[in-house]
Amino acid sequence: MKNLKRRIIISRKRAYHGSTVAAASLCGDSIYHEMDGLPIPDIVHIDCPYWYGEGGDLTPDEFGLKSAQSLESKIKDLGPEKVAAFIGEPIQGAGGLIVPPDTYWPEIQRICEKYGILLISDEVICGFGRTGNWFGCETYGFKPDLMPIAKGLSSGYMPIGGVMIHDKIAEVLIKKGGEFSHGYTYSGHPVACAAGIATLEIDRY
Ligand SMILES: Cc1ncc(COP(=O)(O)O)c(C=O)c1O
Repeated sequence: MKNLKRRIIISRKRAYHGSTVAAASLCGDSIYHEMDGLPIPDIVHIDCPYWYGEGGDLTPDEFGLKSAQSLESKIKDLGPEKVAAFIGEPIQGAGGLIVPPDTYWPEIQRICEKYGILLISDEVICGFGRTGNWFGCETYGFKPDLMPIAKGLSSGYMPIGGVMIHDKIAEVLIKKGGEFSHGYTYSGHPVACAAGIATLEIDRY
């Protein structure tokens, strides 16, 4: 797309989002950036809500707010008009199983709404019941605009993943040309989808 003014995605230290060029760039540890050129431009990282290791004398709730407010500072530094999205795992996995204080995600949501920034909840490890609700964002009380999903979708019986998007994003894509003109060799593979549907049927009970 041409003339995109909001290009920056804010991620976090200790994040894990995958191994393709952009996903590896979103990861928040230098071990994922060892190939030349990563992170790619327009991806920046802020602190994560690691109270156990970095909370100091603050209570978990105080630290959760402080940690979330580092998002607001970063947005102001960069210029809100340049920031497209914030991405985070509800509970950070590969970075050390970091469970956020309860105050963290509602404050992140408030900040994203204030500046019109899309909120991406990476549900690859938290989705499909792993935090006691269907999605980690429900457990932590926030409503994302996009949700990458995978693992629990088929309980690993077949490889399947996807991104769920809010209607407001789908509507923009439709207005711009009717479809999202990217795909994978195996997009919508019927066997993987059948395994996903069967898994979700069982998960309902
Ligand atoms: C939170 C999170 N996001 C994304 C990914 C990447 O998923 P994939 O390896 O299917 O690209 C992982 C992989 O473990 C993950 O833990």
